[in-house]
Amino acid sequence: MSKKRVLSCIQPTGEIHLGNYFGAVKNWAAIQDVYDCFYGVVDLHAMTMSYDPKELKDNSMQMIAELIACGIDPEKSILFIQSLVPQHTELAWIFNCVASYGELSRMTQFKDKSEQIESNSKNQFISAGLFTYPVLQAADILIYKANFVPVGRDQVQHLELSRNIAVRFNRQFKEFFPEPKPLLTDVPKLASLADPSKKMSKSFGERHYVSMFEGENSIRKKIRSAVTDTGDSQGDEMSPGVQNLFNLIKACEKNSEFNSLMNDYKAGNLRYKDLKEVTADALVELTEPIRKKKEELMADKTYIEKLARTLSEKAASIARETVAGVRKLTGLPGLT
Ligand code: TRP
Repeated sequence: MSKKRVLSCIQPTGEIHLGNYFGAVKNWAAIQDVYDCFYGVVDLHAMTMSYDPKELKDNSMQMIAELIACGIDPEKSILFIQSLVPQHTELAWIFNCVASYGELSRMTQFKDKSEQIESNSKNQFISAGLFTYPVLQAADILIYKANFVPVGRDQVQHLELSRNIAVRFNRQFKEFFPEPKPLLTDVPKLASLADPSKKMSKSFGERHYVSMFEGENSIRKKIRSAVTDTGDSQGDEMSPGVQNLFNLIKACEKNSEFNSLMNDYKAGNLRYKDLKEVTADALVELTEPIRKKKEELMADKTYIEKLARTLSEKAASIARETVAGVRKLTGLPGLT
């Protein structure tokens, strides 16, 4: 029996942090033997917001190295850079004519990001690419005829749009695309270290998140200064900052440490200093081998780039077949 196909993607907007790792990449690595996996670094999506063209290519190559360091095995999975498979863009155009203006207007990520631009950025520029972002995402998924897409809850609406595009295309032309389903896994909720009422995200700034690659000293420093008790937690509720450190320990699978600290908490004699030390130890133990692996890989940048190009070409051979089928069905002349 052939394996079902999985596809997921990540934007090359800097280093993978704990939220990305526990929320996505760790699971991507875990399912490589069960599914036929495609993992993309979506540089074209990164262009929808303001970005630095001098950094984009290096960030994409670095993201390939980081994914491998985090356990994505290039012998098992197809790792690709989106723009190196230009058929994504071609299919996205065709899907732009299958998706409706109305459904794109209802995408909450577009509303959130455009509001963010209007309130925070100097240039106030909202690109049309930001609006059609989910159409390109549908192309990413459907071009490989993926059956499952591991995504966080924030991406469920985009995946629903991909399914609508597939169904509409099939009805309009001919049964061609399978309907992709989300692969939702239990992921720990990680909060910002400096403001535990927010989720851990790079967009709030340095003090709020921990990168997988920032190294022991910096990790220990950030955990030491993490907000614990703000004094305003109500009743018996654990304060969100303390809860967050417990969640991190659990995410690192330090179960006996977790239980013993939880017993201290329940007995009313938990020392935050101990909680933080265990958290920092667990994070250092997790990240240190991954950080070293990336360092090794990045020592030979030519190799990483060659690998990225070879794997992207593998992806492209499948993408070309899909697009050839789509061109035929939609009335476009075949290439060659
Ligand atoms: N929009 C996704 C995110 O922000 C990234 C993404 C692009 C993606 N294309 C995809 C995720 C295809 C899954 C499948 O996280």
